[in-house]
Amino acid sequence: MTHPTPGPGSVALITGGTGGFGQALGRALRARDVTVVLADLDSERARSVAADLGCSFAPLDVTDRAANEAVVAQVEAEHGRLDAAYLNAGISAAKSEDELDLDEFLRVVDIDLFGVVYGAVAARPAIKRAGGGAIVVTASLAGLSPMAGDPGYSVAKGGAIAFVRSMAPRLAAEGTTITAICPGFADTPIIDRIREQFTAAGFPVLSADEVAAAMVTAWESGEPASLGGSGDSR
Ligand SMILES: NC(=O)c1ccc[n+]([C@@H]2O[C@H](COP(=O)([O-])OP(=O)(O)OC[C@H]3O[C@@H](n4cnc5c(N)ncnc54)[C@H](O)[C@@H]3O)[C@@H](O)[C@H]2O)c1
Repeated sequence: MTHPTPGPGSVALITGGTGGFGQALGRALRARDVTVVLADLDSERARSVAADLGCSFAPLDVTDRAANEAVVAQVEAEHGRLDAAYLNAGISAAKSEDELDLDEFLRVVDIDLFGVVYGAVAARPAIKRAGGGAIVVTASLAGLSPMAGDPGYSVAKGGAIAFVRSMAPRLAAEGTTITAICPGFADTPIIDRIREQFTAAGFPVLSADEVAAAMVTAWESGEPASLGGSGDSR
């Protein structure tokens, strides 16, 4: 039986699921009686966040190809199906320096771009078995415009957007939509390093709930959704 929109009986997987957007999205989907599995790096904190939200927890490092497959298999085994995969795990560079730190650049691309590719490849057959559904990738405005302070992030998010656009036709043939969400800066731990600057400048930031609402819409409508911001972007 197909569950094309978020609702009772449908099952969603969220990577980076215990971070700011992941938690807000988990809450929004649980409010619609969706069964939610939060996948994230393993920690006591992550497990307790999932439990508090009424979600299952699956330990996952998205850069591990086999682990992506294993988590999808676990979701199907435990919940019988997978209708939506939110490929949301991501990091930004820890520091902004004039000299490009190549190790850090590659680490960001590994998680923010290849983590998305591995997740989509792993989720695709399961969503097809469910009769079609949705893959939603958390990209960023930084993938659409340059980000001088973090080139690796901009490359990874730009690559993720190109991946989404390129995969859409072959997934559409299976009844699966794929969407990139492109938020500007939003108030989650990922902006801890630069939050003070926004506050001092009176720069507006999105709330995690606003972004989560766009992520729900992306599954519901099957249409590309994006959230604008202004200036630089995460
Ligand atoms: N907050 C913003 O301003 C903003 C704007 C645009 C896009 N984004 C993107 O939104 C997504 C979610 O970020 P957030 O704002 O909720 O930040 P966050 O730091 O709260 O959450 C990121 C989550 O990803 C997880 N993660 C990191 N590396 C991982 C790995 N290798 N495997 C599995 N999980 C991993 C972290 O543990 C964390 O739970 C990221 O892809 C981020 O790039 C954030």
